[in-house]
Amino acid sequence: MPDDATTERPRLRPLIVAAAERLAAAGVGSPLPDAESLAAHVLGTDRMRLAMVPMVEQDQADRFEQLVAQRAARIPLQHLTGTAAMGEIELAVGPGVFVPRPETELLFAWALAQLETLPHDHQPVVVDLCTGTGALALALAHARPDATVHAVELEPEALSWARRNADTRIADGDTPITLYADDVTDPDLLADLSGRVDLLVSNPPYIPDGAVLDPEVADHDPHRALFGGPDGLDVIRAMVPTIARLLRPGGATGIEHDDTNGAGVATLLRAHDFTAVAEHPDLAGKPRFVVATRPGKL
Ligand SMILES: C[S@@+](CC[C@H](N)C(=O)[O-])C[C@H]1O[C@@H](n2cnc3c(N)ncnc32)[C@H](O)[C@@H]1O
Repeated sequence: MPDDATTERPRLRPLIVAAAERLAAAGVGSPLPDAESLAAHVLGTDRMRLAMVPMVEQDQADRFEQLVAQRAARIPLQHLTGTAAMGEIELAVGPGVFVPRPETELLFAWALAQLETLPHDHQPVVVDLCTGTGALALALAHARPDATVHAVELEPEALSWARRNADTRIADGDTPITLYADDVTDPDLLADLSGRVDLLVSNPPYIPDGAVLDPEVADHDPHRALFGGPDGLDVIRAMVPTIARLLRPGGATGIEHDDTNGAGVATLLRAHDFTAVAEHPDLAGKPRFVVATRPGKL
């Protein structure tokens, strides 16, 4: 006699394949990875281990179908799973805060490498402007427990996500960061840190006004997290003199930008006497962040 309880359980792979077809038809850019991520989320495992789960319970299949329907309605994957990654940490995300993007990992990796060039006995001072969930600040604090990390965010909802993530990191044993509710375009920002900062990173709002965006972005990332004025440079333009003031001689900055603005950001930095100005592409080969150094040495 076959075991009914076993034979009636839904098979996972056909559910995933059907979900991926539904997501593709809805215009989702990465249908199979998204279907697998949602299945892994429902099953409390990770995508690489799905092959070890040939069959699922009916209530798990139902929950998966609900999430696939939401994803087909173009709700961001990370809002459905509740998390996004940066470096070695996971961040809680949801409505009211920008979802950290994989391309920002490149700026994070550059920042970590930059910290490694400092003398071993130097305790770095790091600033993250426009921190959102706290992604860059918290990932850097996790990787470099010896660093003192300061992070600035203007929007109260985003700041509350950053506080929640910062509390989680403290509970996991990371060095606390300092969060500021402040406007990065204020010329007096972080006055106490003037000339003391070793490394300043920023992934600010940088999309030129009027750009056409996918529904996941346009309908779910906060407007203020995305748009940077007519040419996308309004926030960066206002931040550059402040970055010049905050960095110590020899201190470095990395600023993420719209793919139309690599040369524009480099020009702004050179106009404020930064040296070693260099443009960096993302994994698709598009200009994504510019780095620069203050003249002088530690
Ligand atoms: C593109 S999101 C990036 C968030 C985070 N750095 C990341 O990489 O995930 C930009 C963030 O800047 C914040 N922001 C926009 N204008 C700001 C301002 N003038 N001062 C401080 N934060 C600002 C937004 O609320 C948003 O959280």
